[in-house]
Parts: sequence; C-alpha cells; structure tokens
Amino acid sequence: MEVYSITVATGTSEYSGTNNYIYVTLVGERGESERTLLDNPGLDFCRGAVDQYRVTSKAPLGRLLLVRLEKEKYFVEDNWFCRYVTVEPPGGNKLLTFPCYRWLIGNAKVEIREGAAKTLVEDSSARLLQHRRNELQERQNTFRWVTWAPGIPRCVDAKTEADLPQDVRFDNEKRSDFEHSLHYALLELSLKKLAITFGKSWNDLEDFKRIFWKLRSPIAEYCMDHWKEDWFFGYQCLNGSNPRMIKRCTKLPENFPVTSDMVQSSMPAKTSLEKELRAGNIYLLDYAIMEGIPANTIKGKPQFIAAPLCLLYQHPDEGLIPIAIQLEQTPSLDTPIFLPRDPPLAWLLAKMWVRHAEFQVFQVLSHLLRTHLVIEVFCVATLRQLPAVHPIYKLLAPHLRYTLEINCRGRTQLISPNGIFKRVVSTGGDGLLILAQREYKVLTYRSLQPQFDFSDRGVFQLPNYFYRENALMLWEAIHSFVSDMVNLYYRSDQDVQKDPELQAWIRDITEEGFTELPKFGLSNTLSSKEELSTLLAVAIFTSTAQHAATNNGQFDWCAWVPNTPCTMRLPPPSDKDAITMEMIMATLPDVGQSCVQMAITWHLGRAQPDAIPLGQYAEEHFTEPTAMELIEKFRMKLKEIEEQILDQNAGLDLQYLFLLPSRVENSITI
Ligand SMILES: [Fe+2]
Repeated sequence: MEVYSITVATGTSEYSGTNNYIYVTLVGERGESERTLLDNPGLDFCRGAVDQYRVTSKAPLGRLLLVRLEKEKYFVEDNWFCRYVTVEPPGGNKLLTFPCYRWLIGNAKVEIREGAAKTLVEDSSARLLQHRRNELQERQNTFRWVTWAPGIPRCVDAKTEADLPQDVRFDNEKRSDFEHSLHYALLELSLKKLAITFGKSWNDLEDFKRIFWKLRSPIAEYCMDHWKEDWFFGYQCLNGSNPRMIKRCTKLPENFPVTSDMVQSSMPAKTSLEKELRAGNIYLLDYAIMEGIPANTIKGKPQFIAAPLCLLYQHPDEGLIPIAIQLEQTPSLDTPIFLPRDPPLAWLLAKMWVRHAEFQVFQVLSHLLRTHLVIEVFCVATLRQLPAVHPIYKLLAPHLRYTLEINCRGRTQLISPNGIFKRVVSTGGDGLLILAQREYKVLTYRSLQPQFDFSDRGVFQLPNYFYRENALMLWEAIHSFVSDMVNLYYRSDQDVQKDPELQAWIRDITEEGFTELPKFGLSNTLSSKEELSTLLAVAIFTSTAQHAATNNGQFDWCAWVPNTPCTMRLPPPSDKDAITMEMIMATLPDVGQSCVQMAITWHLGRAQPDAIPLGQYAEEHFTEPTAMELIEKFRMKLKEIEEQILDQNAGLDLQYLFLLPSRVENSITI
C-alpha cells in the first residue's frame, strides 16, 4: 500500500469554505489512487484552512500527473474555493504543489496540474496533452468574444457581471465594498445637494466649497486653493490624470494663429515666441478629437462641448504655463484667442473649457479605452488560449484579476444609455462612443510603450514631469522582469515561434480583440523572445502603472469641480469682455451634477481595500525556485523604486505618488 500525504488549502475570502463532500484522486503515470473522501475529525475546508490528509494507492503511481478534486453536495450546495493542493509521495520524495485557485460549484470535478510551468512542446504525456486541450476547450466555451459596440476593442460576451463565471468575479468582500461605497457617496452628496437646493444660493465659485468633500485628499484641497494659478494648470498637464496629452510644438498649427505680440507678455523681454519655438520650449494641448462630438442633453437641457487648443510655455522662472487658448478648432471672429492678460474671468473660463475637454479625454480615452478596454483583450485571449500550466498564463493571470467584472460593471452602470455618464457628463449618450471610436482608429501599439510615447510627443526635456520619470522606471523594471521570465521558459526565438498556444494567443489578441485596426502595429505572430517580452511588458505596464496613473487621481483632480468640470451648460464664450461670474456659474456643472462628479470620482479613484500591490502575487501560480527568485528580484527592484520616488517627493508641497509601487494595483480592479 502506497501512502501519499496531502494538504488542501481553502481560500481566504468570505464564503471560500465548504461543508460539502470533497474527494481527491491522485493521477499518476502508472494509475490512479483510491478516490478518497477528505474527512478529518471536526470541520474540514474552513475559510483559510490548510488541511492534511492521507491518500492511499494499491500500487505506486509513478510520476504524478494530476490531482482530481470532486465536490458533492451535502444537503445544500456550498461553493468551495481551493487555493492549492500539495502532495508528498511515499519515500520522502519531493513535495509537489498543484496550484488551483478556482471555485468548485455544484457537483464539480476539476483536475489540476503540478505547478512547474510548461509550454506545449515540453509535455510529452498523452494524458497531459489531452488535459491541456480539454481545459482550453472548456474555457473557449465559457469566454467568448463579443462586439459590444463597433469600432472599439471587442470584449467578453457577458451582458452583466452576473453572466461571468465565479472564477473571474469579485470576491464577496470586494463586491459588497464596491456596492456600499457608491451608495454611500451618492447618498452623502445628495444630502448636501438637498441642503443647498432648499437653502443658500449657488451663484459664486465659493459655493462649490459647500459640497466639497475633503476625504483625506491633500491634493484635492491643494487644488481648491491653487486651481486658478497658471503654473498649477501647467503642472496638471504633466502630473495630473491625463499626463499623455501634452506635445512639443515646433511650428504653430495653421488653425491656431497665435502671434508673437499676443504672448510676449508671458515671456521674458529678451526672448520671443519664434525663439522659444526653435528652442523647444513651446508645448501644445490639442483637443481636435473633441470637434463635433454630439453633446449630451440632461434633464431636457443641452450640454456643450468644445475642442480647444492650448499653447504652453516652459518659462525659465515660472515653469510650464498656458499662454494662449482657442476654444474651437476653426479660428474666427467668434473664437477669440484667450490670453493671460485678458480680464481675469475670461482667462479663467477659457482654462475651464480646456479642463472640461480634459475630463472627457482622460476618462473616456486615457482611462477607459487605453487601459480598461485594451487590457480586457488580453484577459479574454489569455483565458481562451493559454492553459493554466502555461508560463505566460501564470505570469499574466495576477495582472488580469477582476478586470472582466469591473469592465462589465462599467458597461452597464457607467457608460450605458442610462448610466452615470448619461446623467451628468457632456459626452454621455452617443458622444463618448464616437470619441472612443475616433481614438481607437488611431491607437497604436507603439503609443502603449512609454519610451516611444514620450519621444513621439517630444517631452523628454520637460522638467518636473514626475509621471514620465516614474513611468520609465516602472517600465524598465517590468520589462526586465518579463524578459527574465521569457528567458527562463524559452531558450530561443524558435521556441517562441514553435509554441502553438502562444501563437493562437497572439492571433486571438490581434484578430479577435483588436479588430479593425490596420495601423495598430502589432503583428499576428510572435517571432522572437524580444517581441514577446515587449508585449508582456505592455500588458503588465498598462494594467498596473498606466491604469494607476489615470485612475487613482480622479478624486484628487476632479473633486474641486471647477478645476475639471464634467459638463458645461452654456456654449463656449465668444466675447472676452462679456464674461461675468453669473455666466461662469451658469456654465459649470450645477449642484446635482457636481455632487455626482465628486461621488463617482471618489468611488472609482479611492484606494481599494483589498488591493494587491504591483509585484505581490497572492496566488502563487509559479512554484519553481527559479521563477520565484525572479519574482523576488522584481520585488527588490520595486522596493528600490519606491524609495527613489519617496526621496524625490520629500519636502514637496504637491507630491506625485500615483506611481509609488505600493500604491499601484497589480491589475485593473476599479
Ligand atoms: Fe479604472
């Protein structure tokens, strides 16, 4: 009789434990063990438990291939989340770990493999090859592509999050926190709204203070005090929620006829616009993509959208400052060029219009499209094409956690025909989809790689561009980590070319996910280790750092509503001299819209209570010491970056900590 000692680890989140019957069978090269009911005295499979059992077999099983787990109902159905199983074969042989990290629901059976990562060519056993095929077949039936809307990346076929399998759903704590937080924020702010609606006036910018929530955001408070200052406007182009919009300008666009005289007063006497254009100190924000986007109608009232151009100057003493703003793309008598020397309210309103365009571009394009939707393509393709034993599945899985559910919730609650965008945002309704479709048409794989993004925008010279500096450090660390991992599992470029699962994965990404994108620039085959490493770095960088950079500051930059208004209720001004405070207040979001803007940006931007930081792998898919060492090396590098960023920020009034590794989540979960 052969005796195998095993341990079975149950999940740590709520409702992971079960009182149902659990059976285990060990499957070896030379046969199967007894099908054994796992039953110790007392309760088995409690939440967080690691229970020990003995499994016997009449004859030696040879090399262990699989562990089969079966769950059977005991009176009532009770789902079980199994983390892993370890097996110690007789004779003190090496302990084997079989990662599971799956739910068993109903009368369920799963077979799990030992943790050593294997590409297809490394598997010779017919049984294991069949296991790979079955797993993929099942996943392809479960996770199907669907076109939610044309002209944007395709996504998972699920009408709501309830259609998703439990394995990709939020755990119970996350779900209740998510739902509670939104209700709490909306309720809290609707009470404020009520107090104002039936109480005092809403006719001065100071009135926004009455709904302003401090909520432990020093940046939001700083914003409230400094938002009118030109340097602060410039700072947000570099380190705000949308740090990828600013470009160097070496020649003025023809539709933006700024003259030297207009901007001379913003520059030291010894220089001029021409000189500064040549010196590379002039920058541009161009929101051409907003032109003609249909504006929302909210409660019967039309909202308004502009497509501004804003010129900025890297001033030797004052830093980056805006020096000219035109609110539409076509110059005319009705679209004056606003200047800092104009009446203060005129200049302020012009800047607000730029910031309003910024809200739309940052939410719909930089955040939703370029992180959430891009990463969903990787999620679906990875689930469909890579078995759990594949090294690239193991590498990516932690960076794809919860993304399908948050995106489903986004589609049903945020951008749906009656979602939050429709209720309060100027691009709500048809606008946001058209906006996303325009960006998607010109989206390039190159622009998802930070070093190219910065060089293509010509922004390497800009000082105090903390986002750039931190993003490059993280990119470097991630790229080096994934290259090490790729080198561990692929000896040569041919190994990459000859991995049919990997090639099916890249085809799924390019042909099923990123459809209708002839200029995207990502080939549908992977021909080298370097190509694979870069693609993995793009996926991990986008799902971690880039998402954190655009998501986590939402409340900080938008809580003070005049700084980043979600909608505008009057058209852009055409006469600089006619601008009054009354007009500004009638233009900015009303009390109700402002309350929702604060509530939703708080809900989506706040640190998640169950966040797993970048590089921390709560689920240990890799079990080999070589892979674990590389993960440890990556963590050490992240620790160094953490210290470097903290040093960089020491003593700064306005700190840039969005890319602090401990604050960057390992995947898009919100
Ligand atoms: Fe997000």
